[in-house]
Amino acid sequence: MKTDNLFDLTGRRALVTGSSRGIGLALARGLGLAGAALVLNGRNPETLQKTAGLLNADGLQAEWKCFDITNEDEVNEAIAAIESEIGPIDILINNAGIQRRFTLLEMEKTAWDEVIGTNLTGAFLVSRAVAKVMIGRKTGKIINICSLMSEVARPTVGNYTAAKGGLKMLTRAMTVEWAPHNIQINGIGPGYFETEMTRPLRENKEFDTWLRSRTPAGRWGKPEELVGTAIFLASRASDFLNGQIIYVDGGLLASV
Ligand code: GCO
Repeated sequence: MKTDNLFDLTGRRALVTGSSRGIGLALARGLGLAGAALVLNGRNPETLQKTAGLLNADGLQAEWKCFDITNEDEVNEAIAAIESEIGPIDILINNAGIQRRFTLLEMEKTAWDEVIGTNLTGAFLVSRAVAKVMIGRKTGKIINICSLMSEVARPTVGNYTAAKGGLKMLTRAMTVEWAPHNIQINGIGPGYFETEMTRPLRENKEFDTWLRSRTPAGRWGKPEELVGTAIFLASRASDFLNGQIIYVDGGLLASV
């Protein structure tokens, strides 16, 4: 078995939702450096155009499509447009996610609905539209950005925890229905990373100290440290891997 290009994504196209910044942008850039053509997604066209321009200036091949992943009609129209105007989607990374921190007792239904709608329902809507064309081609890779919150909880993120727990099980539900069509669906579960979402936590001295002591690696992760796992799950190297969540958390889930 030749292994020289096992992780080469040349000739493949990746759609990454929520890729204007943070983990989504890091993953898009990483897949681009591994050879993939990119389609960025977000809800702000100016930001998307600027981000795609920066990636193209770095020699990558980046297009963009602005659509709201929680809007079923927008999703279906956007996926059809990408397929017809840009090209086939070989890899989908469901990364888009939001956080609204409240205790369950204080949480308004809007905060619950927004987080579940984006982090879980959005992944379902985009994956359903993309899977329809991947099934037709009998090939595809779907990577769901779960979380260590797919496994454990902490106070004030019950909506996010429910969504990410659901996304872990949706990964398995996709597997049992779409693996027969040669689609591999897996997840990545980041631990605590240096992103805008976690900025309030990193700036909280008490939380920062707790997190560094709770994580065996003793530090926060950097978004680019998720790229290797994403390339693996997007490449030929994972063709018989399905329904798995790979946790990239500095050892946090391994420790009591
Ligand atoms: C929080 C954080 C976490 C992280 C991430 C870890 O408030 O605890 O936002 O949810 O963002 O989910 O993977």
